[in-house]
Order: sequence, then structure tokens, then C-alpha cells
Amino acid sequence: MHQSPLGHTARADLDFVLAWRRRWADTLFPELDRQVRENVGDGLPADRKQAMSHVRAQPVHTWFGWSERASQKALWRAVSDAVANNPPILLPEEPAGSLTLDPDLELPQWYTEWDIHVQPGGVWRADESAYVYELGAKLVMMGDNDDYAFHRRFVETCAGDLDKPTRLVDMGCGFGKSTWPLKQAYPDAEVIGVDLAAPCLRLAHAKTEALGLAVHYRQGDVTANTGLEAGKADLVTATMLIHELPQPALRGFFAEAARLLKPGGRLRVLDFQFTGDPVRDTAVMDHGARNNEPFMPGMMASDTCQMARDAGFAQAGWVAFDERGTGRLDGAKWPKRAEWHFPWAVLEAEMAQ
Ligand SMILES: C[S@@+](CC[C@H](N)C(=O)[O-])C[C@H]1O[C@@H](n2cnc3c(N)ncnc32)[C@H](O)[C@@H]1O
Repeated sequence: MHQSPLGHTARADLDFVLAWRRRWADTLFPELDRQVRENVGDGLPADRKQAMSHVRAQPVHTWFGWSERASQKALWRAVSDAVANNPPILLPEEPAGSLTLDPDLELPQWYTEWDIHVQPGGVWRADESAYVYELGAKLVMMGDNDDYAFHRRFVETCAGDLDKPTRLVDMGCGFGKSTWPLKQAYPDAEVIGVDLAAPCLRLAHAKTEALGLAVHYRQGDVTANTGLEAGKADLVTATMLIHELPQPALRGFFAEAARLLKPGGRLRVLDFQFTGDPVRDTAVMDHGARNNEPFMPGMMASDTCQMARDAGFAQAGWVAFDERGTGRLDGAKWPKRAEWHFPWAVLEAEMAQ
């Protein structure tokens, strides 16, 4: 399996979008920060919502916001053109893992009514959606996660010390970049990836087989009963999933994770949290609206640790995560960075023994 080589025009489009996004992150964001310090100074209210209205009132904010949404739309056009001629996925004759699709699965309305990330048709509507998502995600991460180092760092620093686990489940596994590192870390364990999107699962299966790894991918809703047996998993993971879930589904996710885990089993969720810096926090809240991620502000504002405890976890807490550096930060704050970046964090929860 390979993706078609890109022609000069496609490369030029992608390079343009990438350069635009980098200037948005490393020039417009610091300028927004500078304007807040210059015009508001120490006068920013402690209340997050009031502080946000000051940030949004800065002259460059309109440019910052417009540039984020417009570059995201341009990104999907460029990416869709680039992957239009993908060859069909080729699988080995005897795959090591498996792919179980459920043609009768009804996708939740909250999942289908938004083009998530402004990607036309989301990650589920067409066969090529997964390829488009795969290449688009590389641009969204501005080239920093091309080899999926963020995901490897997550596995190494947040999920790397399990004692002979037998089953690991990756919820909302997408095209597998959060799943195959688990199999690489624990080759003897059964690794299962679950997602709603058939196109993503097909790509995940093919990519994982190409790596010579046996992972079982299955279509299912991780906010309801996935059909997997209860009490069998040592670890449940989810990367970049929970900010996409509305409140009832978020609770459903924690309930299903708790149901799947063994006593003492662990939940590790890589997602986003507030940093305490009003400019960054405003930018990420607005990102949810501009990027068609309508449930992101609600997830960030809710007490997800309490939700986990309500679902049966004995304890739960968030730690900061430095995706380009050391990974898990032991509860410490994010390192100071001038440019815009996602406020990555990991929710860690454990079932009682
Ligand atoms: C942003 S992607 C992240 C994919 C992958 N974990 C990663 O880190 O690249 C979110 C994924 O969650 C899936 N998803 C969203 N809601 C879901 C649900 N209720 N059940 C299963 N998968 C879901 C989407 O289809 C999508 O593939």
C-alpha cells in the first residue's frame, strides 16, 4: 500500500498551506499575545470568560481567527486534490490482524451533522476520507508529527509500564496511529482499535498489516456498549477523541471504558486542557468553534475527572503533556512557548483493585 506520489501543483498547494499555518502559529499568535500585554497589561480579569473578551477585542484577533479558519478550508482542498488518485488498498493474503465492520451500525447524529475539523464529509463519509484525514492531520500538526512521534511519546511515557498486559483497547482509533504503537510496545498483548468510521478502520488495518503487526480493528461506538467483553482489558486509551464528544456521550465513554477494564486497569486519555494563560485558553476555545469541533469547549469546561469517578474509576487526574519534548510532564505546567500550540494533557484514571 502506498500513496500516489504528489505532482508539483499538489506540492505547491500543500507547501503554501503549511507556510500559512506556520505564520499563523508563530507570527499572528505571538502578536495577539503582545497586543494583550500592551493594551491590557496586568489588567486582565481572573475570570476566564471576562479575560477572553479582552483577548477577542485586540486588533489582530480578527486576523488571527480568520486566518485559522481560512487556512483550514484551504488545507482540505489542497489535501483532497493531493489524494484524489490514491491506489486501492492492498492487503496481505493472510492478514495477521482483523477488520470487523458493522454495516448496520447507526452513526450518532451528533457525529454526522458536523464536518469535523472542517473536513468535507468528515472522516467517515467516503472511502478516501481516511486518506484525506491522514494527510490533513500532518499539515494540522505543521509537519511536527509526520512520523507520529507524539503518539509514540504518549505510549512510552503514559502507557509504557504495564506488567504483561493481555488486552489493550484504543477507543476512537482513527486510522491507527494511536493503536499500532501499543502493539509495538506490547507485542504479546491483544490490541483492539475501535472507531465509528469504516474508511479510517480500513486504512488502519492496511497500515498496521504493512508494518507486520496483528491488531484487531472493529467498528463500534465507544460511548455505548462496544460489544467487547467486560473486565478483560488492562489498558484503555483514547487520543484526541474526547473533545469530539457531547456531554452525554462523554459520560458514555467513561462508562464503557470502566466496563471494559479489569480491576486495577488503567485509562489513559490524551486530549486538551486549559493552560491558565488567557491568550492560549481563548485561542483554544475559539479553535473549537472555528474548526467545527463544537463540543471541545464543553469538554474542556467540564469536570472530566469527576465524570470518570462517577463511572467507577477509583481516582482520576490530568497531567500536562509536552508533545514535542518529554511527553508526560508529571503534573508540571507546559514549558513556555511563544508560538500557538495545542494544550496537550493526559487524563489518567485507575479502576480499584
Ligand atoms: C481526531 S480523531 C483521532 C484518531 C486517533 N486516535 C489519533 O490520535 O489520530 C477522532 C476519532 O474518533 C472517532 N470517534 C468519534 N466519536 C466516536 C465514537 N463515539 N465511537 C468511536 N469512534 C469515535 C472518529 O471517527 C475519529 O476517527
